[in-house]
Formats: sequence, C-alpha cells, structure tokens
Amino acid sequence: MPRLLVTGGAGFIGSNFVHYWLRRHPDDRLVVLDALTYAGNLANLEPVKHNPQYRFVHGNICDQALVEKLLVEEQLDTLVHFAAESHVDRSITGPDAFIETNIVGTHSLLKAAKNIWLDTRRQEHRFHHVSTDEVYGSLGPHDPAFTEETPYAPNSPYAASKAASDHLVRAYHHTYGLQVTTSNCSNNYGPYHFPEKLIPLVITNILQGKPIPIYGDGLNIRDWLYVEDHCRGIELVLQQGRVGETYNIGGNNEWTNIDIVKLICDIMDELRPRSTRSAELITFIKDRPGHDRRYAIDAEKTMTELGYQPLGSFETGIRKTITWYLENEAWWKSIMEGSYLEWIEKQYSISDPTAK
Ligand code: NAD
Ligand code: TYD
Repeated sequence: MPRLLVTGGAGFIGSNFVHYWLRRHPDDRLVVLDALTYAGNLANLEPVKHNPQYRFVHGNICDQALVEKLLVEEQLDTLVHFAAESHVDRSITGPDAFIETNIVGTHSLLKAAKNIWLDTRRQEHRFHHVSTDEVYGSLGPHDPAFTEETPYAPNSPYAASKAASDHLVRAYHHTYGLQVTTSNCSNNYGPYHFPEKLIPLVITNILQGKPIPIYGDGLNIRDWLYVEDHCRGIELVLQQGRVGETYNIGGNNEWTNIDIVKLICDIMDELRPRSTRSAELITFIKDRPGHDRRYAIDAEKTMTELGYQPLGSFETGIRKTITWYLENEAWWKSIMEGSYLEWIEKQYSISDPTAK
C-alpha cells in the first residue's frame, strides 16, 4: 500500500490530485506538505479534512529536515512533487521566488529523498516530479507537437526554473540511483484553478462584469487538458511508469486564446445571461514579454506504454469547470482580496489597452 507525500497539495492540480487519489485509493496514507503561498488554499482540501488517511503539514519544501522527518515518521515511500511557483506573468515581474522554490526547493526534496530512501534505509521508493510542456519552448504553426525527445528550450523564468528542476531530478537518478519519474503536461483547467490564470480569470471577470484581458493578438495556442485527466496520467506513471523515464501528458486539444475566450463567453451567456453579451468585455492589451506562441503535446509514448487516454470532450470539461465556478462563488470571492487584488492592479493597470 503506497504511502504518499504530496507537495503543493493545497494548490490547483495538487488538491485535485489529493481528491482523485483518496477517492481511488481510500486505504493509502496521504500526507500533504504545502507552504500555503498566495496560491495555496486550505479550502481546496476542505472535503478531505476529516479523512483519517489524510494529514496536512504546513511547511516549505526547502526545509530538508522537515521533509526527512516526515518521510521517516510517516514511513512514506512515494513522493509526488507538485509544489512550485507556477504563473508565467509573476515569473516575469519577480523571478527570485521561482528560483528558490522550483530549483532550490526541488533540490532540497531530492536530497531528503536520497538521504532517507537510499543512504539511511535502502527501501523501495518513487520520486515523481510534476513538470510542464513549457520546458520545450515555443512551436511554429506547422511544427510537430513536443515529444519526450524534443530538446529543452525554456523561454520564461518559470519555464527555465522548471527545466532546471527536471534536470536535477534526472541527475539524481543517473548519479545516485534515486527511483524517479517525471511527467511533462500541457495547460490544465478545472475546479480550484487560481483566478490569475486565463480560464478562471475569464470566468470570474465575466461574473464581475470586468474586462477580459487578452494579450497581443489572441492567437497564441495552448493545448488544454482537464485536470482530472492529468491526475489519471500521473497515477498511471506511478503505477506502471519505468524508473528514470519521462512521460508527456496532454489532451490533443489545441486552442487559440481568442477562440477559447469566445467559447467561454458563449457558455456563460447561456448559463448566466446578462443584459449585455459577455464577448463585449473582451479587451486586447499589450502582449506578455517573450510570449510563447504555441504549445502542443504528443502523448503517444504515455498512451502506448501506459494506456493513457484523456476522458471526456473539451466541451464537457469546460462546461463542468464553468458550472463549478458558478456553484462555488464563495471560493473564488474569498481569493479576491489582499495580495491578489494588488497583483491584478499592478499586472493589468500597466498594460495600455490601446498598445499591441
Ligand atoms: P499552483 O500555483 O496552483 O499551486 C502550487 C502549490 O505549491 C500551492 O499550494 C503553494 O502554496 C505550494 N507551494 C509553493 N511554493 C512552495 C514551497 N516552497 N513549499 C511548499 N509548498 C509550496 O500550481 P499548479 O497549477 O497546481 O501546478 C502544480 C504543478 O504542476 C507545478 O509544479 C506546475 O509547474 C505543474 N504544471 C502545471 C500546469 C498548469 O496548467 N497549471 C501544467 C503542467 C504542469
Ligand atoms: P496562462 O493561463 O497564464 O498559462 P501559460 O502562460 O502557462 O500558458 O495563460 C494561457 C494563455 O493565455 C497564454 O497564452 C497567455 C494568455 N493570457 C491572456 O491572454 N490574458 C491573461 O490575462 C492571461 C493571464 C493569460
């Protein structure tokens, strides 16, 4: 029976993973370690807080002694590493936190895992590192999608910090024999998605009657995956993935930003009609510096080797997501305060709506 340490379990994907895992493996022990940064929210874990198999620990992944203590005291054998600074725009205005958590923090976890699982106890273990397709850089319109063999070419400080962490994970396997796997996934969407990211930003701005900011010409392309499909991909890698390997996870679902925004506007107008059409809120603003043009994931290896398949259509996933935001107004309204409002103010007031 695996005993898991889930880092970053109070964030978007981490909390979805906790719910997914405890539903599917109710007898497994699951300990969440999370520093509760602006992106971490204990409300995301509210539904499991009384589950006796679950424990929450408030702490930083850079605290090697704490991680070692948890690995020993809880007899943990599996580490699923989600904790990160994850927003590209924040990495442009303040990259230091990305270096600290994504690189130094991942290295600290690797040292803790090596120390306990290899040097002290020599036990069966797995260190799974959750990463992103952004490490591969940007694609031209006709380029083939990213495979696990695509050379790394990270463009933003966020992507560079994730790339560095991927390399450290690989090196700890190659050099010390730590039993690692890595997954590189495309853009996720779904419940508990922090409203600074495109899809929840559009939904919550429409609900508040605020402008929908679209960077540049709106023709940048992302490959969107429902978060539960990502969780299932990680489960398959944990159960059947080969140690030392990396696996791409994606949805074969490329959309331009403007098309996805228009789709959300149409669904919102149907589910929550207002006196004016939501699309009238669309506002083109100054582009993100170094904005990657296109991401697309080729998940063939994960599909053939592990039997991975995303379930459900994009139309179903996006409707489920919008409905979740409509039914959980208290969740996203509680975030619209303090440091988040300051971020929105700073990020969007500097953008001149007339500049392209
Ligand atoms: P998120 O920003 O929503 O959550 C990150 C979580 O990590 C938060 O709970 C935060 O409190 C915690 N955290 C941050 N720094 C920490 C530290 N030093 N110590 C302990 N906890 C800390 O991020 P997310 O969107 O859920 O992404 C999770 C992981 O998945 C990240 O590693 C990210 O790179 C990767 N990923 C995300 C996407 C996506 O579309 N969101 C796609 C592919 C991969
Ligand atoms: P985002 O959700 O930040 O994810 P990532 O940058 O990691 O792909 O952004 C998704 C796309 O939406 C990206 O091309 C940037 C664009 N975008 C906007 O046009 N306006 C916005 O306000 C935000 C946050 C993103």
